[in-house]
Amino acid sequence: MHIGNLKIENPIFLAPMAGVTDHPFRVLCREFGAGVVYTEFVSAEGIVRGSDRTLDMVYFTDDERPIGIQIFGHDPLAVGESARTLYEKVKPDIIDINFGCPVPKIVKRGAGSGALKDLCLMDEIVSSVVSAVPDIPVTVKMRSGVDHNSIVSTDAARRLETLGIKAITLHPRTVKQQYTGYADWRLIREMKEAVSIPVIGNGDITCGADAKKMLEETGCDGIMLGRAALGNPWIFTEVLNYLDGKPTPRPTLEDRLRLCRRHHEMLKSVHREIHAVNMTKKHFAWYLKGFPGASEWRVKFMRTKSTEEIGVLLDSLMTAFKVEDL
Ligand SMILES: Cc1cc2nc3c(=O)[nH]c(=O)nc-3n(C[C@H](O)[C@H](O)[C@H](O)COP(=O)(O)O)c2cc1C
Repeated sequence: MHIGNLKIENPIFLAPMAGVTDHPFRVLCREFGAGVVYTEFVSAEGIVRGSDRTLDMVYFTDDERPIGIQIFGHDPLAVGESARTLYEKVKPDIIDINFGCPVPKIVKRGAGSGALKDLCLMDEIVSSVVSAVPDIPVTVKMRSGVDHNSIVSTDAARRLETLGIKAITLHPRTVKQQYTGYADWRLIREMKEAVSIPVIGNGDITCGADAKKMLEETGCDGIMLGRAALGNPWIFTEVLNYLDGKPTPRPTLEDRLRLCRRHHEMLKSVHREIHAVNMTKKHFAWYLKGFPGASEWRVKFMRTKSTEEIGVLLDSLMTAFKVEDL
């Protein structure tokens, strides 16, 4: 699969997820087989202002490539400028524009899924970004529309293709739906039939069988996984194997605990202490499930206040289950 001039090893994408898809998590997902990873969405205005916090959010290393940085904003000039700045500073492989975020504060200003209400604004933002970074592909990730009475994904896709967008990811829920109900995969099929650029299907894939079903039912070129990867970066191996007709053993408790250790060490090495603690707690709450006493251990981790305390508690957890660090 190609996105513009970029060759993609396999068409299984890690979804951008705010507060989740930071550098350590993306590295792990790439190792487990994700073909492309994305940063969480970052504010175009934050980039243009040179905010250190925003720039920290897009920190990546070469082993993550191909990597897309996702940006959002309502002002076409600022969004274009942010793309140029990112390209000059960190050279991502893809710039992705977010037209899917349903957070009211962002939508109200016309950013994120706010642009689904005003396709002319969407056109302006896209044109500004495409001309700002002529050397790399620009992609879009979007929802289907504001509500069931105003589905715009297929119309928007035709316009986006004409404006030079090189691939579109569709999460076919409306803004109003947030995360309720189901993603309407029929809209992915409709989009795929309407444009020639790659369409990446997203929404409600939880296992290899779902992935195959989406590819078959919609004809999409790639699939993107979000929530299924939380506490489970192994999902990428599972999907790749399933599509290849091969089984994948479920990760054992040993695998999980060893990955907890590694993930925690990675978080410590890139984030400030308090951020590393909070991110570790978040990921451990997803990893530590499905074994005797898991909920008690999760509560203990939730009460920790430092990376040191987390390390000591993880030692006791590993000892309790006779798991050794490799
Ligand atoms: C915690 C969380 C954060 C998210 N942050 C973003 C984001 O920054 N940008 C974006 O385009 N979508 C974001 N999403 C939406 C996902 O990328 C994806 O479209 C959605 O979860 C549906 O896919 P899934 O069913 O595979 O989870 C987020 C979703 C979750 C659960």
